[in-house]
Amino acid sequence: MPRGTALDDLTGRRALVTGGTRGIGSAIVDHLTRAGATVAYSARTAPPPESATDLFIQADLASPADVEAISHHVHDRLGGVDILVHNVGADGGQHVPLLKQDNDIWQLVMDVNVLAPARLDRALVPGMVERGTGAVVHISSLSRSIPNPNRVPYGAAKAALSHYSKGLANEVAPSGVRVNSVTPGFTESSWGRAFVESLAEREGIGYNEARRRLMAEIGIPLGRPVVPDEVAELVTFLVSDRASAVVGSEHVIDGGSKPTV
Ligand SMILES: NC(=O)c1ccc[n+]([C@@H]2O[C@H](COP(=O)([O-])OP(=O)(O)OC[C@H]3O[C@@H](n4cnc5c(N)ncnc54)[C@H](OP(=O)(O)O)[C@@H]3O)[C@@H](O)[C@H]2O)c1
Repeated sequence: MPRGTALDDLTGRRALVTGGTRGIGSAIVDHLTRAGATVAYSARTAPPPESATDLFIQADLASPADVEAISHHVHDRLGGVDILVHNVGADGGQHVPLLKQDNDIWQLVMDVNVLAPARLDRALVPGMVERGTGAVVHISSLSRSIPNPNRVPYGAAKAALSHYSKGLANEVAPSGVRVNSVTPGFTESSWGRAFVESLAEREGIGYNEARRRLMAEIGIPLGRPVVPDEVAELVTFLVSDRASAVVGSEHVIDGGSKPTV
């Protein structure tokens, strides 16, 4: 890198963030943009016309055809990417016991959490390898190591994603491409808030009481959930040259809630 360039300056870098319209993904888009990157982002729902740009790609990551369309769009619009953040996740939406989770739920969580990142990486990482530089981040979840009641398919899919991320890191690091994963704990994104709201509804209590109970159940030494900006800060560090030797690591950001070493 040229002398005098700040190591966290992403000017000239091209990025793709999946699920960039809300929550953690939206914060990542903001942080990367502020660091100087040109950031394409995707979601199923188009943003309001006043904030939409031609860098937005409407796509459902459960659909292999849509995932392919994302990579075509990125190739056409940007000529490839230097930074790839796999942020979209799916928990299947149904909080039912494991023996009642049907094939559709398993298929959805595997498609969105594992196969979509693998498909996008296959389309976009070879360009990084060719150029000898690039950074990829997979957003996993603390659920990957904690089988939460009623959410095992989600945790199992995130465990697969973490495993995959490490394997890819080993494979492409010799070509100058760094792959890492970020593992948030309870984060008060739109999804996090919806989770609290559904708990409040199930238990017939208010939002604040449901939030308090959830935090007590999880056990967060920090005393509050993570906020999306904090996850975005970590991701921005990882894709910058400041993290030039950080490869194949899982970075937990959970206010201390992971109960094991
Ligand atoms: N929040 C937490 O407590 C927490 C904890 C651990 C890990 N995580 C992980 O963090 C990541 C982001 O979660 P979040 O809490 O920020 O979620 P969020 O607030 O619900 O935002 C999700 C984003 O992804 C898009 N999206 C969702 N499903 C999609 C699909 N099938 N195809 C394409 N885009 C899709 C959404 O837009 P559309 O709905 O319009 O598509 C939105 O832009 C996920 O991988 C999640 O597993 C979150």
